[in-house]
Amino acid sequence: MANIKFFSGEQIPLELHKVRIVQRLELPAIEKRLEFITEAGNNTFLLKNRDVFMDMLTDSGVNAMSDRQQSAMLVADDSYAGSETFVRLESKLQEIFGMDFFLPAHQGRACENIISQALVHPGTIVPMNYHFTTTKSHILINGGTIEEIITDAGLEVNSSNPFKGNMDVAKLNTLIQKHGADKIAFVRMEAGTNLIGGQPFSLDNLREIRSICDRHGLLLVLDASLLADNLYFIKTRDEQCKNKSIREITLELAALCDIIYFSARKLGCARGGGICIKSRDIYEKMRELVTLYEGFLTYGGMSVREMEALTVGLDETMDEEVINQGPQFISFMVDELIKKGIPVVTPAGGLGCHINAMEFVSHIPQNQYPAGALAAALYLASGVRGMERGTMSEQRKPDGSEQLSNMELLRLAVPRRVFTLSQVKYSIDRIAWLYENRMLIEGLTFVEEPKILRFFFGRLVPVSNWQEKLVEKFRQDFGDSL
Ligand code: F0G
Repeated sequence: MANIKFFSGEQIPLELHKVRIVQRLELPAIEKRLEFITEAGNNTFLLKNRDVFMDMLTDSGVNAMSDRQQSAMLVADDSYAGSETFVRLESKLQEIFGMDFFLPAHQGRACENIISQALVHPGTIVPMNYHFTTTKSHILINGGTIEEIITDAGLEVNSSNPFKGNMDVAKLNTLIQKHGADKIAFVRMEAGTNLIGGQPFSLDNLREIRSICDRHGLLLVLDASLLADNLYFIKTRDEQCKNKSIREITLELAALCDIIYFSARKLGCARGGGICIKSRDIYEKMRELVTLYEGFLTYGGMSVREMEALTVGLDETMDEEVINQGPQFISFMVDELIKKGIPVVTPAGGLGCHINAMEFVSHIPQNQYPAGALAAALYLASGVRGMERGTMSEQRKPDGSEQLSNMELLRLAVPRRVFTLSQVKYSIDRIAWLYENRMLIEGLTFVEEPKILRFFFGRLVPVSNWQEKLVEKFRQDFGDSL
């Protein structure tokens, strides 16, 4: 996706890779889709993938691997202790982030478990730009609380701010003054801030946070799961970084942090996770937890084959022509939807395209889960599976009332290098049809509601027979088309 101009003037992302392994897909008829989504309790997490045409649920563990990653998997060293595979991964991380210590874990939330157990104590606070679901749960379970101090722009669905993931440094100062630095477990920054639409923070913002942390002796922890997208945005949106390489930006950014953890289901296009640590003391404290919860220190719950793929994947993440594919496809999708008047999060972020359900189905009250209802409706209309990121993804308050989410988003993840542009165009077409027919969509209500992380396996039903009406309208408009 280098700078390649089309003679026609058309602006579309052109892939700098070719497809060499493919997976057969099915697109069931809409009547079947109604059966499947009903069986799944209107929760897209509970759909079977064989019933899904485009799986846009997540970018986690489903990115396409490169030929170099695949071939690296064949030379993995299985030994329980002292594996050469581990040495290769550790050295790659030391090279990329410049930190001395590395602990492997089976995925991102396992890192969060270890970090929270080691650093969060009852009564402590973790200020962060914004929470991620699993992060928040781990901090709460260890007796801590979180404070989201994202800049105001971060919560504006539509903005021209290039760095909506920035932390509000004034709020961080106030928070420290109010509670005292000893109450702060650590300061957490999330790259490519997931729940507000994959929005990046700037290098300047991280520098400011570092200097506040230095003043108060606080640890700065980076969740780097979505770092690849954030790096691309720093490189392309920050004038000061235009001439720096991705490697240079990464080293500069990492030097500002004390701990960097990541889900390798996202960063490095494999499956696994890890924690990079600057200080020996913290490393030793966390090391015991790895052997207790994850496995021995040289695999930490990961398959050695995935570790080899990760080592190569991390190296490829330092290539701008690799990491620009996701953001450029997402930007294409966002631009096309805007042209059709469909409400989406702007500017386009990483991870996926985020539809603003609060506006798309503004007639659905938040306690009937507008983004969840839209996710079910989109599956019906297209066989595309997205993910609710709104009130359903929140946990009820201790008194049982709903914690209404700041945003009601339908996230359509664009796993890296997985979909073709014609597939993306198909999804845009069906979203546009749904927008025309949005008044047919109504809400959902829980019939089975787990207390923790209810969005994963909760089951819901529609509040009326609106889904049958949607199927009927589809048949009128599309005839016998799938
Ligand atoms: N941090 C961030 C920012 C994430 O996006 C995720 C996962 C995690 C931590 C946890 O990592 O899944 O490997 O345990 N996000 C996935 C998603 C689940 O679909 O956005 P994990």
